[in-house]
Amino acid sequence: FILVLDFGSQYNQLITRRIREFGIYSELHSHKLTADEVKAMNPKGIILSGGPNSVYGDNSFRCDEEIFELGIPVLGICYGMQLMTHHFGGKVERANEREYGKAAITLKESQPVLFQDTPLVQTVWMSHSDKVIEAPPGFTTDATSPSCPVAAISDDERKMYGVQFHPEVRHSEYGNNLLKQFVFAVCDCEGDWTMENFIDMEVEKIREQVGDQKVLCALSGGVDSSVVAALIHKAIGDQLTCIFVDHGLLRKGEADSVMRTFRDGFHMNVIKVDAKDRFMNKLAGVSDPEQKRKIIGNEFIYVFDDEAAKLKDTHFLAQGTLYTDIIESGTDTAQTIKSHHNVGGLPEDLQFELIEPLNTLFKDEVRVLGSELGVSDEIVWRQPFPGPGLAIRVLGEITDEKLKIVRESDAILREEISNAGLDRDIWQYFTVLPNFRSVGVMGDTRTYDHTIGIRAVTSIDGMTSDWARIPWDVLEKISTRCVNEVEHINRVVYDITSKPPATIEWE
Ligand code: XMP
Repeated sequence: FILVLDFGSQYNQLITRRIREFGIYSELHSHKLTADEVKAMNPKGIILSGGPNSVYGDNSFRCDEEIFELGIPVLGICYGMQLMTHHFGGKVERANEREYGKAAITLKESQPVLFQDTPLVQTVWMSHSDKVIEAPPGFTTDATSPSCPVAAISDDERKMYGVQFHPEVRHSEYGNNLLKQFVFAVCDCEGDWTMENFIDMEVEKIREQVGDQKVLCALSGGVDSSVVAALIHKAIGDQLTCIFVDHGLLRKGEADSVMRTFRDGFHMNVIKVDAKDRFMNKLAGVSDPEQKRKIIGNEFIYVFDDEAAKLKDTHFLAQGTLYTDIIESGTDTAQTIKSHHNVGGLPEDLQFELIEPLNTLFKDEVRVLGSELGVSDEIVWRQPFPGPGLAIRVLGEITDEKLKIVRESDAILREEISNAGLDRDIWQYFTVLPNFRSVGVMGDTRTYDHTIGIRAVTSIDGMTSDWARIPWDVLEKISTRCVNEVEHINRVVYDITSKPPATIEWE
């Protein structure tokens, strides 16, 4: 187990993730842990992350300095290295300017342990203001760069190491080697941790936390809520109840697939709330996109609240919050990037204690976990689907007829993308109904009917995206099938805008 202490760098979870990729369990914890708490966790190594502060700042983050005396190897990265240098009596120079980007470091000839078998000159990723200008007594300087006279330090005797750059960032050419050297060569880790171990650990934790109480989970059918439900169910079985709200704005076959998977497959207690009428009544006559979203968000809360109120003695609420959600909402060290809206935006005054067992994981790790728990590929590899569902894919006012056009054409699109083997390459793909009509001719008859738009994008995180280059023949098949099989479509167009300037959804 490798403990990473968080001093606020945006990259800090990447460190734990890289280490887990090596088969070693790693967790990120607050820099406020005391040396006793660290000792109790019994890590084989400690990594001090980077962070935005200066060691000379009045409010800068510190750690319990006794941590350096525990006899546990420590690797300080960026701010972590400066903190270590400061503690052991080296010199850190204050700077107002930032060095940000790639830099070349030159190693000492003698093959320092963290750099073993890597070239003498190598590219690294720098992101810092202050820098170390003199290694502490007992430490040697292992690398230099044009702007950092002391880019890496080591004291093999005490097993203390520091690097000014960020080995966890892919742009650091040999960053992975460096982290591996630290955990395997210095800390003597075995590398036998797997997702199975994670499941065992979490199951244990959940059982301990929950005792004989009951847990409620809002199941949406998306990857995160599905995996969290499967994990908690594995831990406590029937003490878990899931509420699945069908707002009538789901894709074709989706509600059935969720029920099949969880009620029939996992034998979970799933309460399916058929709330289509409630939602459609509230949405009648509304065409403004933001208003539609708000209505759906609020109604979801009311429906969930009504159902939750019927359940007695439920103390916990499970949520599929991921690490990225936490980072984006701000932690006690990281700045807020955007506020995270949790599953369906559940009300804050719900009297539940939260269980969030996925909050140390990234999306791809959640997928691996889901597969390990036996959740089907259909759900584990599901593309992102917005909470307001098809409501924001029918532009303007929603009617049953329009929903049907979008739902049916979307099903055709999904089927053809899957037939073409493209479903894991394209981040998101769906159809939209722009809500205008145009003239066509079918057989010998003039038609005046709807156009459907195809939206398909590639993306890493949904923040930016490019339009997917779907092969012409696949597009042709989709177009022909939509016009032939879905009533009221006489034209198909393909959206070729990236984000920005467009967004992924049309509303
Ligand atoms: P946009 O359209 O903003 O979408 O480029 C980015 C990603 O977010 C999804 N999305 C939503 N997800 N509730 C959600 O849970 C929403 O209100 C919502 N709006 C957009 C969208 O599908 C895409 O993946």
